[in-house]
Amino acid sequence: MTVVMWGKAAHPAQSAMQEAPILKSPIKTLSWSGPTETPGTREMMALFAFDSLEPGDHIVLAFDAAPRGFLAHFQAERKGQFDWTPVRQGPETWAFEVSRRKAERGELRTVNEALSWDHDRLDALEGAAFEARAQGRFTEAAVIYAAFAYGLRRHIRFEEEILFPEFEEKTGHAATAGPTMVMRDEHREILDCLDRIQASIADPASGVDSVRHALHLVLGNHNLKEENIVYPMTDRALGVEGADALVARIQAL
Ligand SMILES: [Fe+2]
Ligand SMILES: [Fe+2]
Repeated sequence: MTVVMWGKAAHPAQSAMQEAPILKSPIKTLSWSGPTETPGTREMMALFAFDSLEPGDHIVLAFDAAPRGFLAHFQAERKGQFDWTPVRQGPETWAFEVSRRKAERGELRTVNEALSWDHDRLDALEGAAFEARAQGRFTEAAVIYAAFAYGLRRHIRFEEEILFPEFEEKTGHAATAGPTMVMRDEHREILDCLDRIQASIADPASGVDSVRHALHLVLGNHNLKEENIVYPMTDRALGVEGADALVARIQAL
């Protein structure tokens, strides 16, 4: 069965987004369950919805089982024109945001551009969560923060499992002594703050703002170091084709 939701009311975090214009609702959600229709039908519907997007807008694709070959289809048919962001990966629902980029078909991606975009996406979610909390919408704050935490944990995972090993191999910086050692240590600090905030953001009496301040201190500088040092060095070491292939691997995680 296919359910298509039109309009801008599909995201549970939307009422908080009026105060955070960077955080956009999906233009459309395509939700599938049950047996697949004629092979290729879902992919065709998704591409059709994607092609109607303006740059900066996104659709959501939702499934009741892990989709096979969907990302590869987008990578083949709309190469360079989209960001692919898993927002839920089981056990009952798999959902992905597919965001339209302002790019020609076939454009090669760089690590710096793709991962800096994800930093900005996560910053917008974090800001919207605390905007909801400031307005007394505590449950909503927790929902939005959960989306932020999911995205940041995944971001850290693809850096540690895919990006940093590639950086270490191609630049010759050891994992135990170079920039990625510092980045991995900072990830532990970030994850500690993340756990503490997520556990208490819905509690009106919690002193979550001091932990948020601590997170901003470490995460702000961490992202700057990645965007100014680690990502550009990775792009230079890999070359344009290699960097593009690495972005594709990261999307697939
Ligand atoms: Fe990082
Ligand atoms: Fe990062």
